Amino acid sequence: MPKQHRGVFVTFEGTEGAGKSTLMKAVADVLIARRVTSKSIVITREPGGSRVAELIRNIILNEPMDPWTELFLYEASRAEHMAETVLPALREGKTVLCDRFTDSSLAYQSHARGLPWKEVSALNNTATQGVAPDLTVLIDVDPAEGLKRAKEQNRFEAEGVKFQTKVRQGFLKARRANPNKWITIKAYSASPEEMAYKVVLEIERRLGKRKIG
Ligand code: TYD
Repeated sequence: MPKQHRGVFVTFEGTEGAGKSTLMKAVADVLIARRVTSKSIVITREPGGSRVAELIRNIILNEPMDPWTELFLYEASRAEHMAETVLPALREGKTVLCDRFTDSSLAYQSHARGLPWKEVSALNNTATQGVAPDLTVLIDVDPAEGLKRAKEQNRFEAEGVKFQTKVRQGFLKARRANPNKWITIKAYSASPEEMAYKVVLEIERRLGKRKIG
């Protein structure tokens, strides 16, 4: 999909307890307040974000499994989410804010679980049909503080600070590989509204003259 003909795609990444969902809601509010887009804003997530993808999510988050099986399920969820939710919204010129995306597979499945980076990248590319975010927001939190703040414990959060530290390093590696795609926000460094304002200014700056619906 040529970039100039589509809506805006922003993904949010971070380790557990970074405050992604609060920031995403605040970003949507600021986008509306600043009239950045006249079309609707879609807030979605991975794994999940469509009917079948949510069913896959339920399996991934609750059943222990082989790391390769897990990767394929994340990618299956992603393929379905792209086909059913993200791509149709972008084609209609909508703004899509997505809680986790391909960089989570690089950070968790590759860097933290040890699967080969190149293969995870290749599968990401297949599952997304080659469509990449316009901007990825890394909400960077100290892993120990994040775990303290995370309210719900899923089976990943139970793995503790050491695992989250590896995941954080994975995100930093993904950022080094493609620095222009990222903006980094220090978690809890300001109010959600102030952090959201920073993200929206960056969206506006990057899109420049590109027409947003
Ligand atoms: P969730 O409860 O949504 O966590 P969070 O609020 O931190 O986003 O669970 C999603 C989990 O899935 C989270 O631990 C990260 C993991 N994940 C991967 O390991 N790989 C991926 O590609 C994606 C999208 C998520």
